Amino acid sequence: MPSVKLTEGVYWVGAVDWNIRYFHGPAYSTHRGTTYNAYLIMDDEITLVDTVYRPFADELLRHIREIVDPAKIDNVVINHVETDHSGTLPVIMGLAPQAKIYCTQRGKEGLEKHYFGGWDYNIVKTGDELKIGKRTLTFIEAPMLHWPDSMFTYMKEDAILLPNDAFGQHIATNFRFDDEVDMDEVMDEAAKYYANILLPFSPLVLKKLDEVTKLGIEIKMIGPSHGIIWRKDPGRIVNAYVKWAKGEAERKALVIYDTMWESTEKMAKAVVAGITSAGVTAKLFKLSVSDRNDIIKEMINAKAVIIGSPTINNDILPNVAPLLDDLKGLKPKNKIGMAFGSFGWGGGAVGTIEEKLKAAGVEIIHDPLTVKWVPTPDELTRCFEAGRMVGEKI
Ligand code: FEO
Repeated sequence: MPSVKLTEGVYWVGAVDWNIRYFHGPAYSTHRGTTYNAYLIMDDEITLVDTVYRPFADELLRHIREIVDPAKIDNVVINHVETDHSGTLPVIMGLAPQAKIYCTQRGKEGLEKHYFGGWDYNIVKTGDELKIGKRTLTFIEAPMLHWPDSMFTYMKEDAILLPNDAFGQHIATNFRFDDEVDMDEVMDEAAKYYANILLPFSPLVLKKLDEVTKLGIEIKMIGPSHGIIWRKDPGRIVNAYVKWAKGEAERKALVIYDTMWESTEKMAKAVVAGITSAGVTAKLFKLSVSDRNDIIKEMINAKAVIIGSPTINNDILPNVAPLLDDLKGLKPKNKIGMAFGSFGWGGGAVGTIEEKLKAAGVEIIHDPLTVKWVPTPDELTRCFEAGRMVGEKI
């Protein structure tokens, strides 16, 4: 695939990774692959904004060479240190040792601790501008979106925002723009990205969006560092971010569980039936056959999170723990919840679930549902009624 022109003199020169299935080590499933987007600006000073993950260095260089000799690059803007974007910086600096690097103070510290390059760093802060010829680049620090070093680069004259990870999606496509691809898939991946990476920083997302709005800048195009470029409708992803950051929920509940000998599963299905009787959408996920990151994506617009596990060794099943730990870190907003589960002699699982839901900021709206051994019809009715109560509350 060749480089792609965004507008006169501005090119996507990144790489498409069709095969990656896990990101951040094993932490994030990427069923649809990803892209590492880098942008080349041809002006009096040739400027590269971000690089790509090191295994894709050849693809980046091939794309740059379609336009210019990489040795002629004058400036490299590093919006974010994480290696999926800065990994090829040493290669670029080897070819263009005269190039100046523009990044935040924390960006410099992070780059030095990754690559030990001793390069010519130029530290920028919010509002700083770099004139590269006909064009002006404005920098906007964006700490914790999603690393302390993160920043956005705004191309003033072209009204293009290059915000690195923000507004990105892990999806590999052969086209680069939002008007060329299946947008249902893109929005699905954008939601997953937000839910799994940016959710805990939602207050900062709202603050940053407010700050950018107050700057009064026009945004014709958003070129994130992953996935497609928002050309036709950049407002679509900005509005989605506002909704997700505010924790706006739909009439939807998730019932998430695992089971040993089907007792907890029977309880889960009775809870779902109760929610359904209240006219509310319920989605049932058995953890051992579901993708945890996909469940977290579903959580982004769900009002209720109901989690069940039988008791083993006085505690939850081991495969229920990672989701609860993720929730504690992600701190989803405005959720209600409940714990349930079967036991044999000593309980314990529901206590752990409730405690972890509370630690994640979930409001517990019903006492834990417990059943000894196998649920009786009456006990299943109790589960149904609890589900109905949750549905009515939603
Ligand atoms: Fe896509 Fe935070 O790196």
